[in-house]
Amino acid sequence: DWTMDSFIETTVAQIKAQIGDRKAVCGLSGGVDSAVAALLVHKAIGPNLTCIFVDHGLLRKNEAQEVMEAFEGKLGLNVIKIDAQEQFLSKLKGITEPEEKRKIIGNEFVRIFEQGAAKYGQGEYLVQGTLYPDVVESGTDTATTIKTHHNVGGLPEDMTFELCEPLRNLFKDEVRIVGSKLGLPQHLVSRQPFPGPGLAIRIMGEITEEKLEILRDADAIVREEIINYDKDKKVWQFFAVLPGAYSVGVMGDDRTYQQVVAVRAVGSEDGMTATWSRLPYELLDKISKRLVNEVDGVNRVVYDITSKPPGTIEWE
Ligand code: XMP
Repeated sequence: DWTMDSFIETTVAQIKAQIGDRKAVCGLSGGVDSAVAALLVHKAIGPNLTCIFVDHGLLRKNEAQEVMEAFEGKLGLNVIKIDAQEQFLSKLKGITEPEEKRKIIGNEFVRIFEQGAAKYGQGEYLVQGTLYPDVVESGTDTATTIKTHHNVGGLPEDMTFELCEPLRNLFKDEVRIVGSKLGLPQHLVSRQPFPGPGLAIRIMGEITEEKLEILRDADAIVREEIINYDKDKKVWQFFAVLPGAYSVGVMGDDRTYQQVVAVRAVGSEDGMTATWSRLPYELLDKISKRLVNEVDGVNRVVYDITSKPPGTIEWE
């Protein structure tokens, strides 16, 4: 019978054996998976671990600042932030195909970790918070791929790092238990998932600064309203999507032709399956009114009523 206590003990021992007195960098995203992976590796190799938080310009409103406040100088971790907005956005220019976006982002992350490792101590290992479902959904060949998780199939072939992925056999709920046991604060343990490719896979079609700005503002409203409503945290994940559709509307006496925003909210255990959340009409009404009134460039709101399967949680 394998409890999370014995998981921690055996995993820390395995990491010690694997990495020894070499150095590692960990891609820290602010989410629970990479934080727990970092804490396990830190327990095993201490100051030989450097955590790198990359601002790729695809984060949510105020996210970079919030993540650094939560982790910098906390939990014994050594955390540095690398600003790479330009680098990511220029690589993504003109790209519309979802798998292509994912692979470019996975590649770019590793290039930045390599630069970080060279600058901050020659890490030979790359620590990632890859979970069991990430591995399954990324597939072993194109026939079994649903989507290439940025940290699995999206890695460059000529990568110099060896991988250390201590959570590869765990589901999200197990990672949360391990996180609590390792002293991760509750608000971080229960943080809802946010994909590594970030807003890039919530904007259908080409990613531009203008669309990012609209989506950030829309997403902040969706999250604020649902957090407010969902006190007992029944909704697993919720966010806004820009489907890339434009619609005709009327504002006062004038015709508008603007973006459609989709609202996504699902219940799930582990992300492998999900059910669309039956949010009250009053809440949806409030979200819709706020989105159209407060976000420039949005004149219509739709609610996604697709479960997984046959949909996936993200739109790309
Ligand atoms: P899907 O869209 O496949 O998502 O139903 C299942 C869960 O995984 C998250 N997700 C990702 N997380 N890198 C990540 O770190 C990725 O490339 C990625 N793609 C999806 C998604 O937000 C949901 O929680």
